[in-house]
Amino acid sequence: MTKRALAKTVAAWRKKGLSVGFVPTMGALHAGHGALVRRAAAENDRVVVSVFVNPLQFGPNEDYGRYPRALPADRRLVAAAGASLVYAPSVREMYPEGFRTHVEVEGISDLHCGKYRPGHFRGVATVVLKLFNQVRPDRAYFGEKDYQQVTILERMVRDLDVPVSIVRVPTVREKDGLALSSRNAYLTPEQRRAAPSLRLALRAGGEKAVRKALKGTGLRLQYAHLVDADTLLPPTRKTRRRRLLAAAYLGKTRLIDNVAA
Ligand code: PAJ
Repeated sequence: MTKRALAKTVAAWRKKGLSVGFVPTMGALHAGHGALVRRAAAENDRVVVSVFVNPLQFGPNEDYGRYPRALPADRRLVAAAGASLVYAPSVREMYPEGFRTHVEVEGISDLHCGKYRPGHFRGVATVVLKLFNQVRPDRAYFGEKDYQQVTILERMVRDLDVPVSIVRVPTVREKDGLALSSRNAYLTPEQRRAAPSLRLALRAGGEKAVRKALKGTGLRLQYAHLVDADTLLPPTRKTRRRRLLAAAYLGKTRLIDNVAA
């Protein structure tokens, strides 16, 4: 479906007074994405799911080329979860020749994951604002699995007066605690057995404790930061809620997770 066909369909829904929920994804969908779609279907008359592996948010040495792609299975998963339509634009349709405009959410995009993935959150903010303008949803659903991402997008929506409500959905986990992620498909069976250590280590509570808890697990910690859950800055006396954010490597696969702390 092209962005014009999408706009036509959504406009027809709006004319009938139907509310529209939106779940942006990069595909290779799992039960975490399914939870977002089910929540959106429960709160809106229609649900649009986008599937777009966004080249703008991948660094030159990252996994854009090998990111898993599974559109037929993705369509089945979201239909079962209550989606009304899947929007899977091409890279050309999103970024035609001459594309030059980007969205920069300053001061929080270069912390935590952003420090190690320069340009990543600029790519995320840019594609999500484009998708919001193409879909024009009432509500958009994001997972807390990507805690910094949803915080940045909330800031963008407030700062640029984007007429959409952002809804946060808690992280969906495997039975052993591993946060579901499309990138878990990269793990060897041995790495998969080690992967839940990240969540277990986060439960240790502090930055130093995480580093200690990961010793001997095979995971290489990139960072563990205890932050104010609203600002993502170091906690202050005004901090009401805290969050512990972390990223770690298992072989070449980068895992992220976060918990209330
Ligand atoms: P993707 O990694 O496909 O994730 C799409 C949405 O699903 C995000 O909001 C993410 O936080 C959520 N999600 C992923 N795993 C989850 C889990 N285990 N539990 C709950 N929610 C989960 O995030 C992106 O794509 C992209 O950056 C995107 C926002 C689509 C922009 O390109």
